[in-house]
Amino acid sequence: MKIAVLGTGMVGKTLATKLVQLGHQVAMGSRTADGDAGQEWLKSVGGKGKLATFADAAAFGEVVFDCTNGANSLAALRQAGAANLRRKILIHVSNPLDFSKGMPPTLTVCNTDSLGEQVQREFPDTLVVKALNTVACALMVQPSLAPGGHHLFICGNDAKARDKVAGWLSEWFGWTSGDIIDLGDITGARGMEMWMALWLRLYGKFGHPQFNLRLIFPNK
Ligand SMILES: NC(=O)c1ccc[n+]([C@@H]2O[C@H](COP(=O)([O-])OP(=O)(O)OC[C@H]3O[C@@H](n4cnc5c(N)ncnc54)[C@H](OP(=O)(O)O)[C@@H]3O)[C@@H](O)[C@H]2O)c1
Repeated sequence: MKIAVLGTGMVGKTLATKLVQLGHQVAMGSRTADGDAGQEWLKSVGGKGKLATFADAAAFGEVVFDCTNGANSLAALRQAGAANLRRKILIHVSNPLDFSKGMPPTLTVCNTDSLGEQVQREFPDTLVVKALNTVACALMVQPSLAPGGHHLFICGNDAKARDKVAGWLSEWFGWTSGDIIDLGDITGARGMEMWMALWLRLYGKFGHPQFNLRLIFPNK
């Protein structure tokens, strides 16, 4: 597939590298297309991908990952352009973290709204599916790093788009379908993003990010 990965940070690089390894055509998007982070990534995959502006990457991708800095995701997606995102699935990985007042970061939006919803409202013709934002990037593409079953959440307003994303998460990254919990419409992004408050605390406690949630249900 032709896949756009918007973002040159560790998440964008991790997802883009895995997708290139799987044989997909990947365009990594950024503000300038030729920044150092993108160049470094392209070198790391032996040139098997391409660098582009947010707009050119979004136009290229049949599906688009948003791995941009959460406080600036809307700005980045505006640069990507509504026309380039129209009728496409946007897998929204970004978390609305505001580091401007130091650690721990706060959320730019929460409780009665979320970044996922803000993006869906601003791009009504795009199929926004929130996914992968609840785990560290190494786990996104290799869930077996944390042994045993553990859970991933997805949400979005279009049920078919959610099913497609769940299929890709299994096929590309190895999440088993039983471990993917479909939370329904995009308002599910509120909880998925607010989990960051506890996730960051746990990261501080354990000193590494390779952990995840496992839901246990009582026997009936
Ligand atoms: N780190 C993890 O394991 C993890 C796990 C789950 C979710 N997340 C979320 O994933 C997202 C990406 O995280 P990251 O650490 O890989 O990268 P990041 O440093 O948060 O974001 C990097 C990207 O944001 C873009 N950006 C920054 N400021 C911008 C602005 N003013 N306007 C437009 N674009 C701007 C950058 O563009 P340029 O390339 O042009 O500089 C770059 O592509 C974040 O939202 C994060 O919360 C991270």
